Amino acid sequence: MIYLDYNATTPVHPQVREAINEHLEREFGNPSSSHAKGRWAKAVIDDARAHVAASVGAHSPSEIVFTASATEADNLAILGACTAASAQRRHLIVSAVEHPAVMEPALQLQRQGWRLSIAPVDRDGRLILDALAGLLAAGDTALVSVMHANNELGTIQPVVEVGQLAKQHGALFHVDAAQSMGKIPVDAKVMAADLLTIAGHKMYAPKGIGALYIRQGTPMHPLMYGASQEGGLRPGTENVPYIAGLAAAARLMANALPARQRMPRLRDQLQDRLVAAIPGLTVNGSQWHRLPNTLHVSLPVGSARAVIALLADDIALSAGAACHSDGARDPSGVMRAIGATMQQANGAIRLSLGYDTTLQELDLAVPLIVAAYAKHAEDVVRRGHA
Ligand SMILES: Cc1ncc(COP(=O)(O)O)c(C=O)c1O
Repeated sequence: MIYLDYNATTPVHPQVREAINEHLEREFGNPSSSHAKGRWAKAVIDDARAHVAASVGAHSPSEIVFTASATEADNLAILGACTAASAQRRHLIVSAVEHPAVMEPALQLQRQGWRLSIAPVDRDGRLILDALAGLLAAGDTALVSVMHANNELGTIQPVVEVGQLAKQHGALFHVDAAQSMGKIPVDAKVMAADLLTIAGHKMYAPKGIGALYIRQGTPMHPLMYGASQEGGLRPGTENVPYIAGLAAAARLMANALPARQRMPRLRDQLQDRLVAAIPGLTVNGSQWHRLPNTLHVSLPVGSARAVIALLADDIALSAGAACHSDGARDPSGVMRAIGATMQQANGAIRLSLGYDTTLQELDLAVPLIVAAYAKHAEDVVRRGHA
């Protein structure tokens, strides 16, 4: 199987597995215990916190809260920061292309009486800064949440400019960096982010671990109540092995520059070959501000799901985001937000590369994709004429 779905999830890197296994096999202490085993576990978490903090340009390790997922980190960011905001600021802004992990808690706040504004994007999926400035003008915004890079299109948002605008209007700024970590530089200070979400399983750590960067001094309420782990913001005995795994992944990222530099060349070759082989194929998202590993295209005829199903045993691809690709048959919210036609939405395929993707894999994948599409398009045309 050729795996081209790294935006859905990555494999666990051997170095990460090694770090996790060391803790599973050797030590099991509770970090809250005062004996040697507990102190050892606490030291592991302290060390991991420092590495994860460094990977997002945090000022201090204490600005990192470990969570069980990016979804949990996003929920903590949105609900935790908004419920702690002053009563004069009951307005929340999220971009039109946010992941459900941001959009749904925002909608929940709206149901509870908050004013929610959805900031529009252009045809590339990039936030329209003038529109955001207009939404901020009333001066009542508690939080702006804009993802660093979009999971479907790969489009990178102008987060530095968004951060400046949010600050000018006294709003907090949350960046969902689930898709950008490990692919492009991420620095919370440069973005002026107050909150920043990290997803373990998108950066070669396992599923079940994430983190939220919370700039020192940001008022926050917890979502759960319990003991005082993670500064009281995320109570519950810590997942020491996976926290160590996330830190190993953060260290790995720092040394992954050669792999990161290889990815855009491979992605561009893949794009050129598919565009040449499938007349009418459109490339979606920004060509200039795009994750180096992501290619999002729309087939000119038929359904992406049908083509992906024909290839399911040979190539792992995604029709948009993995978390929507099973159930809902509606066009993705991202495709709606960029004004895509029904065909562009139904024909949308996301191909996402990883550190280990090779040219040989792409050599094998391209003819398979082209042949599956040709077969499907022929069926569609035949059925159309029947
Ligand atoms: C941008 C973004 N945010 C949040 C998430 C949620 O991650 P998880 O399902 O691991 O909680 C994802 C997962 O696809 C994502 O792409």
